[in-house]
Order: sequence, then C-alpha cells, then structure tokens
Amino acid sequence: MDIEKKVWEVLCSKEDIQKRNIELGEQISKDYKDKNLYVVSLLRGSFVFAADLVREVSVPLKIDFMTTSSYGHGEESTGNVKVVADIKEDLTGYDVLVVDDITDSGITMKFVMEHLAKKNANSVKSCVLLDKPSRRKVDIVADYIGFTIEDKFVVGYGLNFGDYYRNYPYVFCVTDEDRK
Ligand code: IMP
Ligand code: MG
Repeated sequence: MDIEKKVWEVLCSKEDIQKRNIELGEQISKDYKDKNLYVVSLLRGSFVFAADLVREVSVPLKIDFMTTSSYGHGEESTGNVKVVADIKEDLTGYDVLVVDDITDSGITMKFVMEHLAKKNANSVKSCVLLDKPSRRKVDIVADYIGFTIEDKFVVGYGLNFGDYYRNYPYVFCVTDEDRK
C-alpha cells in the first residue's frame, strides 16, 4: 500500500487538536490549582497527546508512564488487562490524572484507575483525547474528553493500527482495505 496516495477521512485536524488541547490544559490548570497533580500517561497510545497536553498545563506536575496489555492484535479488548510496566512512585498525597488516547470499551481506563487508587492517591481522574461512548462495556465516563466520536476505528496522533500511523499529526479513519 502506498500510504502517500491515500485520501483519508480526517476526524480531528492538527488545528482542531491544538485548539482543544489549549482548552483542556486551561481547565485542568484551574481544577488542579491547589492540588498536587501527577499525570500518568498510558503507553504507547497516549504519548503524543500527553506530551502536547502537559505543555498546556500551567500548574506544577509530575509525569510518569504506564504500559498495560489487553488487546491481542490491536482492535478488540480482551477484557483481561495486565500491567506490563508500572509507575515507579507511591502516590500518597498526589492527585492523579490518567491520560489515554481513547476510551472504547472503558475496560482499560477502569482497570488503571482502580490500580492507581490502590497506591494511596488523593484522587484519581481521567483524561482522554477521544471517546467512543457507543462501544462502552463498563460504566465509566472520562473526566476530561477531547472529542466524542462515533464507532469508527481511528488512527494517528498516537493511535495505531498494527503499530503504524502513530506519527500522523491528525486523527483519521482507516478503511477496511487498509486494515486487511
Ligand atoms: P478499551 O479498554 O476498550 O477502552 O480500550 C482502550 C484502548 O484500545 C486504547 O487505549 C487504544 O489503545 C485502543 N483502541 C480502542 N479503539 C481504538 C481505535 O479506534 N483506534 C486505535 N486504538 C484503539
Ligand atoms: Mg491504549
């Protein structure tokens, strides 16, 4: 496949994302003004979003990264989440904000929030770039949401298919043909 020749359906442009990140950053800065913010970014999908988002946040914060596994080959959650790489610190006294690329079934976010709450955090909240509410299998709504989208498989801006497309600066739909 020659990806340069494809015309993609762009859902969130580079400009849309930049604008939304500024808004989210302002809101988070207000909400965490008198708190002790600790951002936990879920790898690998949220590395681009988290890097841009934290630069729009004006209150002091720490950041660490966590890797979980649940998706066999990238599309459907198996429902069986495992911690592959945990954060290093105990979270006593911190207000945790878990950052992920997308909430789909919600299984990953629910698991991670419960896992981090056990590390004695003051509070645990969530922030996702994208939300696909129609796909939810567990009862969870992220505290901060960049964009709500319909049930389409999307890539770019950190999101992958087969580990490709993460480097594109916008979010777009891959067609069934691309996913074969
Ligand atoms: P959940 O546990 O089903 O909510 O899955 C969340 C994870 O699934 C995200 O962190 C993504 O890594 C992955 N995921 C879900 N939907 C998509 C998509 O449309 N494109 C790329 N990755 C996705
Ligand atoms: Mg993920």
